[in-house]
Amino acid sequence: MNIALVTGASSGLGRAFVEKLSTDPSVEEIWAVARREDRLHQLAQHTSCPVRPIPLDLTCPASLDTLRTLLEQETPTLSVLVCSAGVGTMGPIRDLSCEDAARMIDLNCKAAVAVTSLCLPYLRRGSRVLEICSTAAFQPLPGLGVYAATKAFLQSYTKTLHHELLPAGIHVTAVCPYWIKDTEFIPLAQQGKKSDFKHFPLASRARSVVTLSLWASRWNLWVVTPGIVCTLHRIGAKCIPHGLMVPVTELIRRI
Ligand SMILES: NC(=O)c1ccc[n+]([C@@H]2O[C@H](COP(=O)([O-])OP(=O)(O)OC[C@H]3O[C@@H](n4cnc5c(N)ncnc54)[C@H](OP(=O)(O)O)[C@@H]3O)[C@@H](O)[C@H]2O)c1
Repeated sequence: MNIALVTGASSGLGRAFVEKLSTDPSVEEIWAVARREDRLHQLAQHTSCPVRPIPLDLTCPASLDTLRTLLEQETPTLSVLVCSAGVGTMGPIRDLSCEDAARMIDLNCKAAVAVTSLCLPYLRRGSRVLEICSTAAFQPLPGLGVYAATKAFLQSYTKTLHHELLPAGIHVTAVCPYWIKDTEFIPLAQQGKKSDFKHFPLASRARSVVTLSLWASRWNLWVVTPGIVCTLHRIGAKCIPHGLMVPVTELIRRI
């Protein structure tokens, strides 16, 4: 059976990926992974393609064992893998608790790599992998320092995977969006506190990010910046030394 596996499927971008992939004729079933089971069942009720809710906390080793067993039992062909589960916490690094920092590293880096590794044996020529990184991957980012570092890690990992899987005809794309306003990410990252990020001008919408990302993965782009701001940011971060980019972005976010 041809399946798509989407992590972070209970809200935001992951949910929008499930909705979009449910109209893809090459996908027979979508495996939707996140912790909130009720949300996954709700999602399964209004999609045209069958959605299998897989409630897992991807930061728990036992959850990864569950996923490994499920894959071994069902031996699906994985047409599309989307690793969208991710968290951020805003604030200067000195104010960040060890737990918050570890949570970001565990989910954004360790879990994304673990899920991808478990899925590799089930990818075939033409399969597509999308790792959801962020425009924060392009430079060190005061106010989101650990988060930006996790996304830089994921982007680097994804680019290597893209290169290694090229001969096998498997497409791998790092998705690097700017702020997305219609997801739970921003309020969760603010944790109800006042943060230095006050405005999110020209923020994207999940559906347009999903459409552009799936288009880019068909063309096997190794990095996609689904929007004007992240595209300009990517170019700027390549041309301008980080020593200059960091104080400039710091200034912009304080305005
Ligand atoms: N929104 C933005 O501005 C923005 C910008 C650039 C990049 N991104 C990236 O886009 C991705 C999706 O974020 P989003 O904007 O869609 O935010 P979101 O609405 O908060 O979605 C995050 C998803 O991750 C899941 N998740 C969180 N902890 C988990 C865990 N321990 N185990 C399994 N699943 C877990 C959540 O589901 P449960 O709580 O049910 O587990 C949720 O489905 C993230 O990787 C984020 O870093 C977001």
